[in-house]
Amino acid sequence: MKLQICLFLGVTFFSVSRAGFSPPVVNISLDVPANQRWAPLKTLYDIDFLRKAASDVIDSTVPKWVHIAIKPIVNALEKYIPQPYAGEIQGMASFYGTDISDIVLLNFAYEVSAFCTSIVTQDTKGNIYHGRNLDYPHDVLKNLTLDVVFMKNGKVAYRGTTFAGYVGLWTGQSPNKFTVSGNERNKGHWWENIISAILLKSSPVSWLVRETLEAAVDFQDAVVRLAKVPIITDVYYILGGVHAGEGVVITRDRRGSADIWPLDTLHGNWYRVETNYDHWLPAPKRDDRRHVAMKALNSTGQNHINMDSLYEVLSVNPVCNRITVYTTVMSAATPEKYTTVVRDTCK
Ligand SMILES: *[C@@H]1O[C@H](CO)[C@@H](O)[C@H](O)[C@H]1NC(C)=O
Ligand SMILES: *[C@@H]1O[C@H](CO)[C@@H](O)[C@H](O)[C@H]1NC(C)=O
Ligand SMILES: *[C@@H]1O[C@H](CO)[C@@H](O)[C@H](O)[C@H]1NC(C)=O
Repeated sequence: MKLQICLFLGVTFFSVSRAGFSPPVVNISLDVPANQRWAPLKTLYDIDFLRKAASDVIDSTVPKWVHIAIKPIVNALEKYIPQPYAGEIQGMASFYGTDISDIVLLNFAYEVSAFCTSIVTQDTKGNIYHGRNLDYPHDVLKNLTLDVVFMKNGKVAYRGTTFAGYVGLWTGQSPNKFTVSGNERNKGHWWENIISAILLKSSPVSWLVRETLEAAVDFQDAVVRLAKVPIITDVYYILGGVHAGEGVVITRDRRGSADIWPLDTLHGNWYRVETNYDHWLPAPKRDDRRHVAMKALNSTGQNHINMDSLYEVLSVNPVCNRITVYTTVMSAATPEKYTTVVRDTCK
């Protein structure tokens, strides 16, 4: 009886609501020194809320005794953090009024826990659309999600979606060049990543996304960088470009790419769906978001795919689910259409 009621309510919700709200948009100038760059956050958030949210996220990821025990290690890590991240994290800590090791830890805590669905598609005219859901089992992130427009010399350099306090990007767009999203590849623990960062001096995956958005001249260049530069953990990078055929899923090992999986429209492969499993292996039965997304794409059809229908695909349960924090849809050829929705009723 109870189950039936739940199902009934669920169905009703889905058919009537386009759930969610737009996150705040903030301009961050790359011409401002790194440690002052994120100051505009002060006008958007209450500091006590940010501090409480940060400690909630850390407490849910890192056991208390470990948190205390690793403080010296994290403080050591600070010396290894390259610019501009070191400066940005320092600035963030002073404006939060917290210990810098907590902000470092916060940046590494997020780094390991993102479950996601990313889709890159091409319509029959050759337009590329890219969408992603970011799933993370912590409600507070919904109130921390923000779209950041990074400005340089008064112009938009790139933009992305992130959480207040986090300096990396899992989702971003270089206007008229390419779009990129990252999905967790289910390996490793957060502490392995910290060790990897110290010993191997490699980048967190979300920092490489930012560097690529800043430096890559086009889609091809972005693919090469995201496939090659050493990173601290395995990940999937999904990219969309501006020309027909420019869509790819890169499966990453720490040292390089394990697989490159491009669109192949000549053979009917007008989309690629990546969740959190290697595409050449079956997805586990208990978490088959991949199959559901493919079915929804098939029933949409290549001649009807666009930003709106892609958003609908990303709204189908369980592609959108209880822990989905936000959905972004984007197309590098029409950068002004970049849209993020913070989800509140995917169940
Ligand atoms: C961000 O910068 C753009 C371009 O200069 C401007 O139009 C917009 O109003 C700014 N937004 C905010 C929130 O300051
Ligand atoms: C997020 O913000 C809304 C509206 O301000 C509030 O009702 C809600 O409790 C907040 N959620 C969390 C997890 O902080
Ligand atoms: C989607 O369509 C393709 C091509 O017709 C087919 O191979 C695939 O099995 C379909 N997938 C699902 C989940 O319906």
